[in-house]
Amino acid sequence: MNSNYYKEIPSKRNFPKFIHFVAIIAYFILFSIPFSLLVSHFPARFKTFGMLLSYVFPMILTIWATRKTFGREGFPSFSFQHKNLFPFIVIGAFAFLVVGESTVLLLPEPSGIFKTIFDELNEAMKAIFNDKISGYLMIAVAAPILEEWLFRGIILKALLKKYSPWKAILISAVVFGVFHLNPWQFLYATVLGIYLGYIYWKTGSLFYPILIHWLLNSTAFIAGQFQDPSENLTETLTHQEIKGMILLSLFSLFIIYFLYNYFEKYFSHTPKEWIVATGNPHKIQEIEKILPKNIRLKDLKALGHKTELKETGKTLEENALQKMRQIAYPYDVNVMADDTGLEVESLQGAPGVYSARYAGENASYRDNVEKLLKEMEGKENRNARFRTLIALSDGPKEIVFEGEIKGTIANEPRGERGFGYDSVFIPEGYDKTFAEMTQEEKNKISHRAEALKKLKKYLDESKA
Ligand code: IMP
Repeated sequence: MNSNYYKEIPSKRNFPKFIHFVAIIAYFILFSIPFSLLVSHFPARFKTFGMLLSYVFPMILTIWATRKTFGREGFPSFSFQHKNLFPFIVIGAFAFLVVGESTVLLLPEPSGIFKTIFDELNEAMKAIFNDKISGYLMIAVAAPILEEWLFRGIILKALLKKYSPWKAILISAVVFGVFHLNPWQFLYATVLGIYLGYIYWKTGSLFYPILIHWLLNSTAFIAGQFQDPSENLTETLTHQEIKGMILLSLFSLFIIYFLYNYFEKYFSHTPKEWIVATGNPHKIQEIEKILPKNIRLKDLKALGHKTELKETGKTLEENALQKMRQIAYPYDVNVMADDTGLEVESLQGAPGVYSARYAGENASYRDNVEKLLKEMEGKENRNARFRTLIALSDGPKEIVFEGEIKGTIANEPRGERGFGYDSVFIPEGYDKTFAEMTQEEKNKISHRAEALKKLKKYLDESKA
């Protein structure tokens, strides 16, 4: 999609494909086979311990294989932020539990092959619930950590790069549901997966998803001590109980609606962090003055990136995109990167992309200005323009904004302020150079300011 003030560029990211999700489920099944075979030889009293092992190891292997598949680097964040949301997130977890449990009522009574699967599942659940240590470790410790890492920390994170947030959350929830490999838990896990995904998307940390998962699985585990799990999974409920369940679900949906509005409002006020792909603190200050207040900018040093960014493009746009991608892809952060050039008509657009090194590698601003004036000697047409391209990576989207200012090249340097070619650039409609203007004056009309204003408009409109 292209708007009249920005251009969306096809991303070069290695996006997840449908086949990857099939592969993840297949990995888990494949890795489970040898462990299940091994564990089937365990003596009866170690049966649950064996189940724990044949869950944990295949899961770890699946996470390892999935990380390879998506080529992800780094570990997910587990940071505990947004402390005031704690009670609301917990309430939400139980509201989703009720809704998730109720969806199981939609399923018909199991029969045929489903009856066999159901009975086996039921037996396994009974065994897990009966073994207080291995059972709890599996259900309430291993599952929350490993499943959140896989489904939210890797899969959803990768999906958020490709799809709009809601689409990504829905797909990850369905994959999470399918992973449970039976229709009863499929519905329940899909519903919960939506909540877990939403919270992960909003907080960017696995802390809350793990906490929610732990709370709900612990609740199921404790409930399992008093109740036959089959009661959880099929409708051995009376008419009256079903009515109660529906009422409770409606009430829970109301709570979810209220919480959703609350979370949306809360997160619209939390500052969003953007990395500016520059090592130049002056650039950050200039950008900060123009962008909305709820945007927090960080430079490459703060991100911990030390190597210099490559700029080998043939155009300003290519360079801006190249710089942005060198940060956005490996770090999974939102990034803006800019590239600016001075284009002189009678020099066929030079120095252009080579503005910084017009007089050679490591040339000073003064060397560049001297070379420019020399090239311009005797030229009547002194028309020129500054152009800034800003490339932005906003989740799955990659966008460029352009700003330009027309003017002429002075016959000699004038003014002390500014930097680069400021002392020889006279903007159209003025009789002084950029270097003779105050910073405020320049910032009102400059090429960079124009590109930044478009960027601000985009951020305001998209609430990014
Ligand atoms: P950059 O892409 O912002 O690093 O800019 C490349 C080169 O263009 C700089 O080294 C400067 O020489 C020049 N330049 C960029 N912005 C300006 C400006 O606002 N005034 C004067 N020169 C600039």
